[in-house]
Amino acid sequence: MLAIIGGSGLARLPILEITHRQVVRTPFGDPSCALTFGRIAGINLVFIARHGYGHSLAPHEINYRANIWALQQQNVSGIIAVGSVGGIRQDMSPGSVVIPHDLIDYTYGRKHTFFEGLDKPVVHSDFTHPYSRELRLRLKAAADRAGIPVIDGGVYACTQGPRLETIAEINRFERDGADMVGMTAMPEAALARELGLPYALLAVVGNHSAGRAESHHRVDFSSSGAVLAQAMKSVERILGALC
Ligand code: HPA
Repeated sequence: MLAIIGGSGLARLPILEITHRQVVRTPFGDPSCALTFGRIAGINLVFIARHGYGHSLAPHEINYRANIWALQQQNVSGIIAVGSVGGIRQDMSPGSVVIPHDLIDYTYGRKHTFFEGLDKPVVHSDFTHPYSRELRLRLKAAADRAGIPVIDGGVYACTQGPRLETIAEINRFERDGADMVGMTAMPEAALARELGLPYALLAVVGNHSAGRAESHHRVDFSSSGAVLAQAMKSVERILGALC
C-alpha cells in the first residue's frame, strides 16, 4: 500500500474509491486528520490531508511527526507527497508540475526528528538523496502514461512561512541552487527517511515566487487557488496512472 499526502488544493482525492476512514493516535500527538483508505486503479492507498480536511493547519502548525508515524503504522511501502510551490526557475511557471530531486531546508523550530530525548539513540540518518529515486521514476512513468508533462528534477527550498518571501530571499535561494520554494517538504521528507519510508514529491507551481512575476509588484496568491485547482486535475491523472 502507498500513502498519499495531499497539500493545498488537494484536501480530498475524488478519484479514490474509498473503503473506510480511520482515526489514528500516535505517541507524538494527533495527525492532521483521519486517514482515508481506498483504491485507485487497483492500487491500495491511504490518504491524509496535510493541512486537515478544512485546511485549518498552517505549514508551521502541522504535526509532521504524527502524520508520518500514522502512515508508517499502516505498513505503507512509500509516500507520495503533493505540495504547492512558488516557481523560482523561469520554466517553473504557474500550473507546472515538478518532481524535485533535492531540497534545501530553511525551516526552524519544527519538531524535525523522532530521535530526541534521553531514552532515544543518537541517529544520523543518511539524507544524501532526500527523494526516493525509485518513487520518482514511478511518478515520471505514470505522468508519461497519463500524457501529463512534468519537469523531472529540481531543487526545493523549504521555508518556514507562513509569510511569503522577500525578493532578496528568493534571490538568495536561487544563488543557493533552489528552483522552487514551498513550506512543507521539511521536516516531512526527513521524518519519512528516519522511519525508512521512501518519499517523493509532486510539486505543483501555484505562483511565481516574489520578484519573479512580470509585474514584480507582489506575489499573486489570489489566482493561485484556481491555478492549483486546475493543476491538481493533472496530479490526479498522474496518481491514477501509477502502477
Ligand atoms: N513561497 C513559499 N511557499 C509557497 C509559495 C511561495 O511563493 N507558493 C506556494 N507555496
